Amino acid sequence: MHIPSGIYDVLTDPRTVITGDRVQIPFELDRALYERLNNMLRELGGRWDGRNAVRAHVFPFPVEEFMRACLATREFPSRYEQGWYPTPPRIVHDILEHAGIREGMSVLEPSAGTGSIVGPAAGRGAVVDCVEIDQRRAHVLREQGAARHVEHADFLDLDPLDLPNGYRRVLMNPPFSTAVRHVTHAFGFLDDDGTLIAVMPETVLLSGDRATIEFRELIALAEGVFTPLPDESFVPSGTRVRTVLLVVDAERGGPLATHGWLQRQPRQLDLFALG
Ligand SMILES: C[S@@+](CC[C@H](N)C(=O)[O-])C[C@H]1O[C@@H](n2cnc3c(N)ncnc32)[C@H](O)[C@@H]1O
Repeated sequence: MHIPSGIYDVLTDPRTVITGDRVQIPFELDRALYERLNNMLRELGGRWDGRNAVRAHVFPFPVEEFMRACLATREFPSRYEQGWYPTPPRIVHDILEHAGIREGMSVLEPSAGTGSIVGPAAGRGAVVDCVEIDQRRAHVLREQGAARHVEHADFLDLDPLDLPNGYRRVLMNPPFSTAVRHVTHAFGFLDDDGTLIAVMPETVLLSGDRATIEFRELIALAEGVFTPLPDESFVPSGTRVRTVLLVVDAERGGPLATHGWLQRQPRQLDLFALG
C-alpha cells in the first residue's frame, strides 16, 4: 500500500524517532493527519502505548530497518496481507526449547517474516537459512545479518531437490490460512532424522476438509504431537487466533516425505522400471 506524502513527511521528519521496536513522534500533528498515521502504524502491527515512559507506537518486531525499507519504496505491506503475525517471544522460547539446537546445526525458517525465530535460533548457534515472500521483510532479514542465507521467494514454489541436503530442524510459523500446505511442503526440506516444529492455527485439529484430515492422519502416523498454546498467545501480534505447536520427528523409512525420501525416489522408480 502506498505511503501518502503527509505521512511520509512525518515519518522522515528529523524529529521523528524510529528505533528498536518503536516509532515516536515528539511533535503535534493535526487530528486528521494523526488518524491516518495511526491507522498506517496499526496496519503495520504497531500499538500506541501512552504511558509517560513510552508514548510511542510499539511493534512486536524490530521496526527500524523495516520502516527504512518501506520509506525507500514509499510502500508498506499490511499485516493482513500474507498473514504476517510475528511470533511473540514466549512462543519463540517454547519452539527453541523443543528444538534442542546445538552449535552449527542447520535450520530452515521458510516464512521468516522479520526474523522473530531466525535471530534467537542463530543466537543459540544454529546456521539458519530463511525464505520470505515479502521483499521488505526479506530486506530486513538481510540487514539483521543473523541468517546465513535469505531467499526472497514464495516458499511453496521452491523445489527441495534444488538443495543437496535437508535441514536438521525446520522451525516455522507459516501464514495461518495456508499452514497445512506450508508444513506439508516443508517436510521435503527436512533431514531423514530431523525435527520440524511449527506454530499452526487450532483449526488444524478441528477442520473436516480432506487436506486437513489427511494431514492429521500423517502426523499421527509419524507420532507427531500437537500441543495447544495459551489462548491469548498471539495478542501481542494483534490477533486472537488460537494456536497449537506441532513437534514432529522424521526418521528414515517413516511416513514423512523428507528430503532424503524425495532424493531416493528416482532410484526407486528405476528399480520399478527394471522389475
Ligand atoms: C505468521 S507470519 C510469521 C513470521 C515469522 N515466521 C515469525 O515467526 O515471526 C507469516 C510470514 O510468512 C510470510 N509468507 C506468507 N506466504 C509466504 C510464502 N508463500 N512463502 C514465504 N513466506 C510467506 C509472510 O509474509 C509472513 O511474514
